[in-house]
Amino acid sequence: MDLALIGGTGLYDFPELEEPERILVETPYGPASAPVVVGSIAGRRVGFLARHGIHHQVPPHRINYRANLWSLHHLGAKRIVGINAVGGITAPYPPGTIAVPHQLIDYTWGRISTFADEGSAEVRHVEFSEPYDRHLRHHLVAAVRRAGLGVVDGGVYAATQGPRLETAAEIERLARDGADVVGMTGMPEAVLARELAVPYACLALVVNWAAGRGGAEPISMQALKTELARLTAFVPRIVQALAELLPTP
Ligand code: HPA
Repeated sequence: MDLALIGGTGLYDFPELEEPERILVETPYGPASAPVVVGSIAGRRVGFLARHGIHHQVPPHRINYRANLWSLHHLGAKRIVGINAVGGITAPYPPGTIAVPHQLIDYTWGRISTFADEGSAEVRHVEFSEPYDRHLRHHLVAAVRRAGLGVVDGGVYAATQGPRLETAAEIERLARDGADVVGMTGMPEAVLARELAVPYACLALVVNWAAGRGGAEPISMQALKTELARLTAFVPRIVQALAELLPTP
């Protein structure tokens, strides 16, 4: 499989895949969120996995990230793009922005964030100073541009626990820490991909101003959903462009 996509909130299937086949992978970690749908785009093998399940039934802190990543690896994914709806924290990331972060900060807790757990494998301290794959990021940025869209190349993704949204003071703190966007599912997905040595990058869709950022108004779920639908509609074009750009093996 040349490319695997993990679809986040708002993206539960990928009808653009030609001759799709649904594959439910049995994993040592229990069930993944959904079967992987594998098909073709631009002559490349592309797989799609709905991170929250096809009915959005799994909240961020309950996702079996290990099973999801293991499934894609088991099916031979050569690279993985995680698609994440996020809130914008700093000025260059207003709602409507498409960004490809280059760094992350992990604020999640209580999630199993390694395959080297339960005494089954050796203790591992995986190298993670650059959490996203440089080449895949580069291709992803180029793909968004090729699809005729604007993109912010870089940014720091803060992964929060959820499922609630943050307080304004929490967002202030994330801003002081240097975060640009905030989401709930970027970790441990990124580090599990790294443990499996699969290049991973994040396509961040900014669907709202994070708490306290867009004026004093509370976050409007209606506006968030509208922005999510608008940005999600661009994803097939971006994936098509990415499939065309990927280096041939
Ligand atoms: N915070 C955390 N996760 C999110 C947000 C947010 O504001 N918007 C979309 N996912």
